[in-house]
Formats: sequence, structure tokens, C-alpha cells
Amino acid sequence: RMDTMNESSALRGKGADVVVIDDEESICEGCRQTLEADGYYTATAPDGIQGLQMIQDLQPRVILVDLKMPGMSGTELLSQAVQVVPTVVPIVITGYGSIDTAVETMKIGASDFITKPFTPEKLLGSVKRAMSLSEARYGAPAVKPVPAEPAEKAELTREAALLQGLQAVGEFCSLGYEKREFLAELRRIEAEAEEHAASIGHAKTKREIVLEMVRDLQVVDEIIQKHAFKKNALIQILLDVQNELNWLPAHGLRWIAARLNIPEAEIYRIANFYEAFSLERRGKHLVQVCTGTACHVRGAPKLVDRVAQVLGIQPGETDRDMKFTYQTVHCLGCCALGPVMVVDDTYYSDPSVKDLEKIKEACN
Ligand code: FES
Repeated sequence: RMDTMNESSALRGKGADVVVIDDEESICEGCRQTLEADGYYTATAPDGIQGLQMIQDLQPRVILVDLKMPGMSGTELLSQAVQVVPTVVPIVITGYGSIDTAVETMKIGASDFITKPFTPEKLLGSVKRAMSLSEARYGAPAVKPVPAEPAEKAELTREAALLQGLQAVGEFCSLGYEKREFLAELRRIEAEAEEHAASIGHAKTKREIVLEMVRDLQVVDEIIQKHAFKKNALIQILLDVQNELNWLPAHGLRWIAARLNIPEAEIYRIANFYEAFSLERRGKHLVQVCTGTACHVRGAPKLVDRVAQVLGIQPGETDRDMKFTYQTVHCLGCCALGPVMVVDDTYYSDPSVKDLEKIKEACN
């Protein structure tokens, strides 16, 4: 949801910590959810003109400005914003390739720039630094009352019945008037199970996979309940599901959409935007080998082969037991160690076959 000028006027006097100005609604919404989950009052605007008005009305401490916007450009907005609110600390959002421009904008007052796509951590890190800068320059903000969260409990009856039904796969006929909806969901789950069974070489039967998917839904449902069905906790819910299941399965996303009454398309926009999310089934352990230039010249191609040999899968594949997903990536940011492999969060410099076997053993 994009805040409009009217909402901006309604917020006047209340103030905001951060204003995000970007013509891409998914970016505004993603930033708003991430920042609000971390306790920042956040408002968003879809273009420079509305953004400038909002900055004037809300007097934020930090603004996030997209450089490339139709109408008033980010650079233009920046130079006007610092005149309207001289205490504001701007951060520039830029796409790949406009880094030179971003550096230019730092000369006219931007404190930092973040390149798209960015992770919630990167966004929060940059905003926290900007807040500290603002505090160091202009003092701590006045303490604001914490607004009470409206209890936004979704209608549970239909979904609760569906969940119970899913738990009782095989006995769905007893579901009475919920039967048609339940059958439709079950058919979709079965179709997905079919696909998964094919993709992992029928190591498991379709029935086993359906049961697994039903268990996934229980996990997803517990996470949604933990977050009290709050729509503005969507990113945190997705992160928790990713952590628990190692991916965001389609049936899980459908479930979240139904439970929170959010369009599926919106959930997919966010899931596609952040690197932290995977819409592909992942193994328990993620193995990545860097094939960036520095690693390549130091022997990455041989390391790629060694890892494939020890794991028994090629880059881009997941093993049948769902233990390992193997990927190649471009630069892990530690080129001096090259060629580098990372397993979950542990980095290894040029491991031999023996080292790899030990690492694999330790994961079992
Ligand atoms: S090129 Fe491999 S870590 Fe940078």
C-alpha cells in the first residue's frame, strides 16, 4: 500500500522516522514492513513530488530515495529535501549500474547508498547507521508513544477446518460442507506432490510427499499464529518459514495468503525480491562454490568438480535425501581465500577431496 498525500496530511504532527520514496510499490512495501518490524515509524511515497510533500509534513530523520523515478528524479528530490528539512539524513537506493551516480549523490548529502536487490539486513544496517549519524548531529529523537497494534485476527473457521482436514488426509469425506474447498486444495497439493516426486526421482512416494506437505502447512500455520496473524509481519513470517523449511513452498505461500487475507501476487513479489528467500526446494545444507574471477584463476573449476564428485550432484541440484543443495555463486566477498566454498555459514579455502569428505560427514 502506498501512502497518499491525504494519509501524509493525516500523519502530520505524528511524524515519521523514515520516509521511503520509490516508484516500485514492492520496494516501498518491503522497506516499510522491514523497518516497521524493527520499530521505525515509516511512510512511503510513489514519486518525488509526493515524497517531498511528505518529507515536509512528517519531518523524518532519514529518507530512502530511489535515484531513478519518473518525473522528479532522485537527485533533484535529494537536493530539495535537504533544503526543506536540513536535519534529514538521506540514503540513496540505486539499481545495478548507477553506482557512479550514487557516489555523485553522496557529494550532495546522501549518507549512504544501497543497491537493488538488497536484503532486509542491508536495509536495516544502512538505516541504523543513518539514525546514529542523525543522533550524533542533531541529538536523540523525542520518545514517541508506541501505537497499539490492532488485533487483526483473520477469519479462522474455514482455514482451521481445512487444516484439520489436511491432517486427516484420507478421511476428507467427513468434512461435510467444507469438502469442496478441501478437495480443491488437496488436488493442488497432490499436483505439486507429483511434480516434487518427479523432481527428486521418485525417491519418495506421492503419498509420503503429500503428508510432508501437510506437515509443512502445520509448521507454516504455527508461524502465522506466533505472529498473531499480523499482515505487517509478512516478511518475518516468510523468514521464519524459510528458516524452518529451507524454502518457501507454493502450498505454504497459498496458505499464508489465505490466512492473512493477502493476495498471493504480493507475497510472491516480496519472496522474489529478497535474496534470503528460495522458491526452489533446498536441501538441509546449502553448499556454494565461488566461481568469481579471483577464485576462477586460483582453481575454482577444479573445486567445482571435486565438490560435485563428493556430493554426487551437479551445481544447481539437490540430492535425493534433501540433505545438500549445490550452487555456484559469483564472489563471496573473501577473494583472498580463493577458491572458496561455503557450507551454510562456514567458509573453506580450497578444500581437498579428503577435506570435503570430512565436511560432508560432519553434516550427516
Ligand atoms: S571471487 Fe571468489 S570470493 Fe571473490
